[in-house]
Parts: sequence; structure tokens; C-alpha cells
Amino acid sequence: MDLFDAITSRVSVRSYSDDPVDRDDITKILEAGVRAPNSENQQAWRFVVVQDRDIIERIGRYSQWGAKALFSPQRHALEERFAGMPEEKRKALIEDMTTGMFFTFIGRAPVVIVVLADTSKSHSVHSASAAIENISLAAHGLGLGTCWTMVATGDAAVEQRIRQELGRPEDNWEVAGIITLGHPARMPRPRPRRPLSDVVDWI
Ligand SMILES: Cc1cc2nc3c(=O)[nH]c(=O)nc-3n(C[C@H](O)[C@H](O)[C@H](O)COP(=O)(O)O)c2cc1C
Repeated sequence: MDLFDAITSRVSVRSYSDDPVDRDDITKILEAGVRAPNSENQQAWRFVVVQDRDIIERIGRYSQWGAKALFSPQRHALEERFAGMPEEKRKALIEDMTTGMFFTFIGRAPVVIVVLADTSKSHSVHSASAAIENISLAAHGLGLGTCWTMVATGDAAVEQRIRQELGRPEDNWEVAGIITLGHPARMPRPRPRRPLSDVVDWI
């Protein structure tokens, strides 16, 4: 796939088939991740590939807890954000977000890659984020789907439990992203972007 096509056709995929993801493909994807630009080439990151069903399910549950903590206090803001939607759809979406139901796909993903940034090193979260984008594009190039999720970090105690689960309980490790990975069960429509004229200044 041409690089520009890959960039423009990538979408966040939140439903996966039960087909297993080939280990060689995961390795290729991680090789792409570590090629990302990163601060001072310190490579201050860890990639935890989770295939254990019990651990993935627990990460899914933590993500639901994080979502509840994050979105429950924001009901009013969510009403405003989705004001353009038909009422029934809006209510259902807000209910799913505030109860965490929207994020059950995380616990059902065939593979989860948790990317941790070592915050004792400079700009590590930025570097890890660049790696996550490479991972997303590489997976897409191989016909796989990903979704970069952060809801689990909506609550500090929940994030701490995830780090403990992954054997990195030390405070310097920050969760930069929890990436779900699998064969897409269906490809969502691309989400729109604001026009460049809204977001670019030429000076
Ligand atoms: C920093 C970051 C955090 C995100 N967190 C979540 C998340 O917690 N749950 C989720 O379903 N999607 C999450 N996403 C995916 C975005 O919702 C998605 O990228 C955006 O809606 C644009 O859609 P697209 O990726 O299909 O173009 C996150 C993306 C980024 C970059």
C-alpha cells in the first residue's frame, strides 16, 4: 500500500473477528513502532503485547471503569458535544460512554499492545505517541485494524492497576496508549476532518 493511501485510509477499528493475529505480523508492526522518531533516540518506551485472554478482559474492565470516571462528570458537556445528533441516538451514545459500555470492544480484542513511556526521560510520551502512530499504520498496511485507546487512564488508580498487571508498577511508567489489534470484523466509515483552512496558519 502506498504510504499516502495508508495514512488517508486508516480508521480506528473497534470490532474484530476471532481470527488470531500472526505473531510475525505483530513483530513487523513492533519493528515499525520502534522506527518512530523519538526524543534523543532514548527509546524510552516499552511495548507489552498481551494475548492472554484473562489479562485482556481485565484491561477491558479497567477501561470501562476509567471511562465511567472520565465521562460520568461530563454528562452536560457530552450533551452539548453531540447536540447535532438525533435525540435517541445521542442519549444511547452518552449512556454507553458514561457507563463504559462503548468500550467493551477493548476486552474483546484478540491482541492488546500497551505502550508505556518512561517519564524519567525527556519527551517520552511524545516519543511513545509517535511509535503508536507507526504501529497503527503498519497494522493497517497488513490489513489489520487498531484502535488507540486511553479511557483506562481516566482514573489514576485504574491506570496504576494496569501498570501493576503488566509488571511495571513504578511511577515513572506512564500508559501512552492501549492499542487494540485484530482482523477487522467490519471497516468503519472514515471520520471527517476539519478543512485545513480551519487548522493551518501560513505565515
Ligand atoms: C490520544 C488518543 C486517545 C484516544 N482514546 C480513545 C479511547 O479511549 N477510546 C476509543 O474508542 N478511541 C480512542 N481514540 C481514537 C479516536 O477516537 C479516533 O482516532 C478519532 O475519533 C478519529 O477517528 P479515526 O481514528 O477513525 O480517524 C483515541 C485516539 C487518540 C489519538
